[in-house]
Amino acid sequence: MSGAALNAAGRPVAAPLLRVPAGMGSLADYGRLASEHMEALAWAHLEGGSDQNLTLAHNRQAFDELRLCPEPLADLSQASTLVSLCGQNLQWPLLLAPVAYQRLAHSDGELATARAAMAMRTGMVVSTLSSYTLEEIAQAASAAAQELGRCGPLWFQLYQQARREHSLSLIRRAEDAGYQALIWTVDAHIKRSSYPLPPGVEAANLRGMPQQRQSGDLMSEQILFGTELARSAPTWDDLTWLRQQTRLPLIVKGLLSARAAARAAQLGADAIVVSNHGGRVLDGAVSPLEVLPAMRAAVPAHVPLLLDSGVRYGTDMLKALALGASAVMLGRPQMHALAVAGMAGVAHMLYLLRAEFELAMAQTGCARLADIGPEVLTIR
Ligand code: FNR
Repeated sequence: MSGAALNAAGRPVAAPLLRVPAGMGSLADYGRLASEHMEALAWAHLEGGSDQNLTLAHNRQAFDELRLCPEPLADLSQASTLVSLCGQNLQWPLLLAPVAYQRLAHSDGELATARAAMAMRTGMVVSTLSSYTLEEIAQAASAAAQELGRCGPLWFQLYQQARREHSLSLIRRAEDAGYQALIWTVDAHIKRSSYPLPPGVEAANLRGMPQQRQSGDLMSEQILFGTELARSAPTWDDLTWLRQQTRLPLIVKGLLSARAAARAAQLGADAIVVSNHGGRVLDGAVSPLEVLPAMRAAVPAHVPLLLDSGVRYGTDMLKALALGASAVMLGRPQMHALAVAGMAGVAHMLYLLRAEFELAMAQTGCARLADIGPEVLTIR
């Protein structure tokens, strides 16, 4: 069939399924099936890390190298996964990380993800680069929450724009649409990206705003230094400015050092996401898991640390919480599940992960999140 979009195996992209296929038992199953349902370039863009993919691989190794200590006989009759974060109650310590351009995976894109998040009482962070507008996504979430009688927090992720008035306009729009927190991503303003968006997929929130160039072109005199891109990269002054602009909880995403975390907290960050952007920015960067204990020690106890990059199993969540995270975020798997079966896929994927997490808590004798400490990683 000529003209049909091809997947990574060179076959026509399979249409999303209307229901969850049989035999899906883990996030890895969605990861395996998803490539059939996505166009080859979009798939490569989603899965890739930077350069040699060292950090991408290291993110997983850091989780896999930790061993858990089973602890039977705990009383689980009152067990719960409830957590309070930035003044908001979450049913369990997981949020969907901001992932741009979700229409690359499914025509319903972020609308389907938002509905699934509400159905599973899970927090969702909507990207500046969403392929539906932030208002459309908030509307879909609120309609789903009303229909189902269930909801989860909806947060907005800000990529700083070259002009402050444009950043401010995004913040005001997010506030007006009912978003409950602002996540400011600071690690990916300067990053290589050569992925050309296909027709029909755009940064819906940025219509009418100047688009920032991702990399220099060969013929220009400057490569990165001296360019507008470098000049507009976020700085500590921007954090001070942002703190003054909104009353929403302000969360800084993309820090990996104790020093930076302490400084962010001092300047008024309400929480920090320890993240290397899923291995997509600086190849060779440390994994969030290995720097988490030092960061936890450097930041006041009332400032929660969230963690992402490489989380794929309920036991990963337990390990991150054991080392000091208050919650984790999940990136690529939401796109895998979306590509395979749209909203049903994302809801089912979240169900699988939550079931794994509860099992991991039970098997390590943790009836509540406060029971999860470094002891679950060692013989008590
Ligand atoms: C991202 N991430 C991201 N982060 C952000 O703050 N704003 C964004 O728009 C995006 N977009 C985006 C697109 C794609 C395709 C990927 C894979 C990732 C990073 C994301 O929020 C998160 O930090 C990582 O995805 C976490 O790693 P895992 O779970 O994918 O391993």
